[in-house]
Amino acid sequence: ASSSVQEALEPTPYSGSDDENGDIDWDNLGFGIKQTDYMYVTKSTCDGVFEQGQLSRFGNIELNPSAGVLNYGQGLFEGTKAFRREDGSLFLFRPDQNAIRMQFGADRMCMHSPSIDQFVDAVKQTALANRRWIPPPGKGSLYIRPLLIGSGPILGLAPAPEYTFLVFASPVGNYFKEGLSSLNLYIEDEFHRATRGGAGGVKSISNYSPVLKALTRAKGRGFSDVIFLDSMYKKNLEEATSCNVFVVKGNLISTPPTNGNILPGVTRKTVIDIARDHGYQVEERTVPVEELLDGDEVFCTGTAVGVLPVGTITYKGKRVEYKTGSRLVSWDLYSTLVGLQSGLIEDKKGWLLEI
Ligand code: COI
Repeated sequence: ASSSVQEALEPTPYSGSDDENGDIDWDNLGFGIKQTDYMYVTKSTCDGVFEQGQLSRFGNIELNPSAGVLNYGQGLFEGTKAFRREDGSLFLFRPDQNAIRMQFGADRMCMHSPSIDQFVDAVKQTALANRRWIPPPGKGSLYIRPLLIGSGPILGLAPAPEYTFLVFASPVGNYFKEGLSSLNLYIEDEFHRATRGGAGGVKSISNYSPVLKALTRAKGRGFSDVIFLDSMYKKNLEEATSCNVFVVKGNLISTPPTNGNILPGVTRKTVIDIARDHGYQVEERTVPVEELLDGDEVFCTGTAVGVLPVGTITYKGKRVEYKTGSRLVSWDLYSTLVGLQSGLIEDKKGWLLEI
């Protein structure tokens, strides 16, 4: 192995104790970037195969100014988490699902993508090399961010000739400043997130900056996030900027189908499975905004967000309030998800990968 791999495989600042980050305030992590020790990088060769990746010290990367990602936005990202349990063991949650989603997105964006095994191995290596950054149980997780970018130079519009697959990580707590309290959402009626036949259903980097205007505006008015409606009829629920949305009415839980406009969230899929196992009826179908406003309960799901209840939704100047507190359907689903991740509930589906 080259000396950089050698060095990376023996994380120097880490002396065998996972408690070495004594100066981190684990109780107030939030969702900001904290520089960790290592990142994983590999590039594709011209036939689209990714070389064996290497861990290297976390740091800046060099890109040609004409890289496909910088000029034409050829980029995808993923988000997955590593958890620490009370007994010190470390787990990833369904990283294969992120690998599959990246392959699906890469096909849509004309990019080469790593194999599922390569992706999962890279996530595992990144988590282990940064293990001292995995928060104590109950304090959060190590958020792992795989990136696939067109790094090869291009000038005329075409797929880049080379791709870089990179994985970095940062310890995180709650995504919203509200913590685990319920969210106040605003239904956006000027901008849309996705269009029919567009790329709303893949985790392209180009889906995220166009929502910033609506998000910043709503946050400035005190809302937690915005909900987008479909761009064709302007009346059906799609999703928020960073999470999927579900509505509960009685025993029925509804969420929009992954029809190309909706991001197929790993937490979305997991929560649907848990809900069905718990006896709820779950429908993936068009949800008109009136039905959303008429729900008993609304909740959001995402890797970064987790499962969070919505307290209010504001639409066209009218504010609707939902059930909050304990005994919520979303609480049942959230506590099951957290129970599985922390090992308190037996993982019968093989969702957890010990690393
Ligand atoms: C995630 O939930 O992992 C995401 O990628 C959303 C992102 C905006 C933080």
